[in-house]
Amino acid sequence: MVQRRIPKVRDLAPLMQFKKPDLNARRRRLASAYTIEDLYKIAKRRTPKAPFDYTDGAAEGELSLARARQAFKDIQFHPAILRDVSQVDTSTTILGGPSALPFGIAPTGFTRMMQTEGEIAGATAAGAAGIPYSLSTMGTSSIEDVAQANPTGRNWFQLYMWKDRDRSMALVDRAAKAGFDTLLVTVDVPVGGARLRDARNGMTIPPSLTPKTVLNAAPRMKWWFDFLTTEPLSFASLDRWSGTVAQLLDTMFDPTVDFDDLRWIAEQWPGKVVVKGIQTLDDARRVADIGVDGIVLSNHGGRQLDRAPIPFHMLPTVAKELSGGPEIILDTGIMNGADIVAAIALGADFTLIGRAYLYGLMAGGREGVDRAIEILTGEIERTMKLLGAASLADLTPEHVTQLQRLTPIEADRSRV
Ligand SMILES: Cc1cc2nc3c(=O)[nH]c(=O)nc-3n(C[C@H](O)[C@H](O)[C@H](O)COP(=O)(O)O)c2cc1C
Repeated sequence: MVQRRIPKVRDLAPLMQFKKPDLNARRRRLASAYTIEDLYKIAKRRTPKAPFDYTDGAAEGELSLARARQAFKDIQFHPAILRDVSQVDTSTTILGGPSALPFGIAPTGFTRMMQTEGEIAGATAAGAAGIPYSLSTMGTSSIEDVAQANPTGRNWFQLYMWKDRDRSMALVDRAAKAGFDTLLVTVDVPVGGARLRDARNGMTIPPSLTPKTVLNAAPRMKWWFDFLTTEPLSFASLDRWSGTVAQLLDTMFDPTVDFDDLRWIAEQWPGKVVVKGIQTLDDARRVADIGVDGIVLSNHGGRQLDRAPIPFHMLPTVAKELSGGPEIILDTGIMNGADIVAAIALGADFTLIGRAYLYGLMAGGREGVDRAIEILTGEIERTMKLLGAASLADLTPEHVTQLQRLTPIEADRSRV
């Protein structure tokens, strides 16, 4: 029989933990996010459907993206015990410079359309965290503005080769003059992927006001207020485009670009050259032979070829085959710091995040990107400690098993 008693006020006092409410709504909102998925949910609530879907969506049936994310979920870790992990060092060197963390910000187009602080939020957050920032050819802030916003951090420039080569190379020239240290040449866009969400949403750049978008805007007034009261969206010399982004890519991009062009582009750039969008071992070898400084194993976040190879699955073989060659960077599907730890353990030198930072941006501008980086950093440090790794160099393939759901019917290792 339980003996009951009347509670005394002095027993209750220590239980009462009423905190002073934070009057800053953005800070309150971001503090409630513990994972990138939490930021995703906030982003979705706050961003009109067309720009949200442009960011979140992928090509065709979106299988490339779903599979890449699943591959990271299907990691099994093998922790080593009784190691001194009181301090963990997450810093690394990539492409001849330092990074405080094993990831940087991937190039993303039209970033000011997602949230008005756009590229400047990404670049300043990256600078503050001590990691590299990549500006896209399709960026909505100028090369010089990004350099000015992140003057002591590392800026990388991503090149799409347009049909008008002089215009593309003029951008490369400006990036070199502005002190960008690395050129990422994206090679997986001979034509635009079929972004069906954009087609269904009737997506235009900038988003247009139709009865459908006006209805959708009502609960997202802050986005529209920001959008209408800041500098109009434009990129390089294009002010307005009334088709989908994929149609824009088809109009601008040069599908004739080949390995000789890559060689020529690399010669024009004074800094490090990285080829972004490598998807087979054979192509990894071919660009390594050209002598580039790095490759990005990537399927463009699933936005180009659907059912493309999963970059994370290609990683161990490519890392083995290219050992001593170009540095290996991996992207597509990263949603957790543990994904990054697994990639480093399996041979990546570095990783890039796309949507993970964009969800943060849409959830709360610059502070939202800070929060995304903070969440990933916490996950990286905790995973390393639990694995018994005090530095990135301590991470080895023994720490990770990739559990694979989809195995080839006929193993064709030449392609990986
Ligand atoms: C909204 C959005 C825009 C993108 N724009 C570009 C771009 O302009 N140039 C480029 O090389 N890659 C672009 N990417 C691909 C990213 O650089 C990166 O490869 C991809 O986002 C990685 O996948 P993740 O989003 O799962 O991290 C874009 C990705 C997204 C989500």
